[in-house]
Amino acid sequence: MAVTKLLSLALFITFLGVVNNGRVEASHSVYPQLQSLTAVNVLQLHRTGFHFQPRKNWINDPNAPMYFNGIYHFFYQYNPKGAVWGNVVWGHSVSKDMVNWEALEPPIYPSHRFDKNAAWSGSATILPNNKPIILYTGVDQNNRQVQNYAVPANFSDPYLRRWIKPARLNPVVEPDQGVNASAFRDPSTAWWLNRHWRMVVGSKRNHRGIAYLYRSRDFFHWVKAKHPLHSAPHTGMWECPDFYPVLLSGKQGLDTSVVGKHVKHVLKVSLDVTRYDYYTVGTYLTDKDRYLPDNTSADGWVGLRYDYGNFYASKTFFDPAKKRRVLWGWVNESDSTSDDVKKGWAGIQAIPRTVWLYPNQRQLMQWPIQELESLRGKKVKISHRKLMTGQRIEVKGISAAQVDVDVTFFIPSLDKVEPFNPSWSLTDAQLLCAKKGSKIQGGVGPFGLLALASENLEEYTPVFFRIFKTSIKHIVMLCSDARSSSLEDGLYKPSFAGFVNVDLADKKLSLRSLIDHSVVESFGGGGKTCITSRVYPTLALLENAHLHAFNNGSQTIVVENLDAWSMKKPVTMN
Ligand code: FRU
Repeated sequence: MAVTKLLSLALFITFLGVVNNGRVEASHSVYPQLQSLTAVNVLQLHRTGFHFQPRKNWINDPNAPMYFNGIYHFFYQYNPKGAVWGNVVWGHSVSKDMVNWEALEPPIYPSHRFDKNAAWSGSATILPNNKPIILYTGVDQNNRQVQNYAVPANFSDPYLRRWIKPARLNPVVEPDQGVNASAFRDPSTAWWLNRHWRMVVGSKRNHRGIAYLYRSRDFFHWVKAKHPLHSAPHTGMWECPDFYPVLLSGKQGLDTSVVGKHVKHVLKVSLDVTRYDYYTVGTYLTDKDRYLPDNTSADGWVGLRYDYGNFYASKTFFDPAKKRRVLWGWVNESDSTSDDVKKGWAGIQAIPRTVWLYPNQRQLMQWPIQELESLRGKKVKISHRKLMTGQRIEVKGISAAQVDVDVTFFIPSLDKVEPFNPSWSLTDAQLLCAKKGSKIQGGVGPFGLLALASENLEEYTPVFFRIFKTSIKHIVMLCSDARSSSLEDGLYKPSFAGFVNVDLADKKLSLRSLIDHSVVESFGGGGKTCITSRVYPTLALLENAHLHAFNNGSQTIVVENLDAWSMKKPVTMN
């Protein structure tokens, strides 16, 4: 136990180093000199074609996604005055399909004593009378983080353009004596159980991450439970906690209030220390009002991530129209603040993903919402093509800078799989990916896709598998390696990676990548392991971008089937 603690502490200190070396943006850095530079020129270079982006300026967390009377609402942290974080208000867009969006005026912004200094992240709950209500964090006149509510001003407006924050009852939750008032934020969607609403607020005490639990009969008067829903030592601040049920089997999503023997629960927290989103699968002990992760699900940064790349502060919602749970996540930039100012914009949202529990009940599956397929245009197909050692097949005839590609590889033989060195970490695939890269020949792999490749491969982003074995099983690594993605220096070019929990009984591995100018969003093993990379090519732009399948392993691989579709732009994007 003591050793585990020491290890976590060492990791914690290492991660603080990561935050400080300028690679990972620490939260809430303020750039006073850049605050009033309203973006006049918005550079189109590297803007995405089909990912959610406002027309200009900075965005971060998804807020209060919801479905109400036939309309999807999406709110987000937005700086109306520039391309860096600051002056944050809530942006608001509406859609009928989560593909085409219409931007509305910011509905929530600092205006009262209880949110005078900021209107930060929050979540929506649909009350039983079909009335939405939002809980969000305000930074009040004393710089305390408090929780407020907002309700639509006019229910006959289908777009719910205006929201009010009644001054009589707000704030609805204030930090009490034991709570750190500068680390107390991001209320979750509430759930109803035993005649009380419940919700969690993210926090920390010293280095212990905490999801404080609150209960209320009427949504306006909240009482803190004696114990948190869950907490874990040495994990730092828990931002944007999200807590929801998933069916034991099947893809269908559930309303956040569902409990019972047929479900498990998921708790996701965004760890401010590492800036990644981690989740556990476990049991909601309703009699104790506590969440207990399964012993196969670890808390903290050794645990499972929604995405092993740029993906943070995510939030799910239950979509009653299609009976699914949908995940939104903020995909931050990997370039510099000065690049963002030059671009006039920063931040996009990942493609919304349907999430459900994998039948082994130990992890989630994620897949781009089906509506995205409405943007698929010209299609190219490649089937049953062998990829020998060192070979590439170019996928021609599509626009490789804006493409949806879905490939299934067949591995004729696993005989030559290389051993997994026991000194390597099973919780840090990124290190291994950095070591092996896409070129060093392995037994089986590296093989996969070369996204956003320039004609002579001066630039490319490989997304690929490499297979290892221990005495008991195969270990499959999925990498999305940005190191050769751009000739430009000074960018953050991580070799993101995760392990994919597959048994390879059918000798098949699938990979889908959504490639969109400066983002490569990949789903390995049918959605078991996801990685999103931001890349900024200088040559592999527009019609000069290429897409290949490749194999640099010593064993032949077969492209059993590859479908690639040029992606159209949505008709309206904000
Ligand atoms: C996460 C976060 C939240 C906060 C918001 C402020 O990225 O730091 O904790 O509410 O962003 O914009």
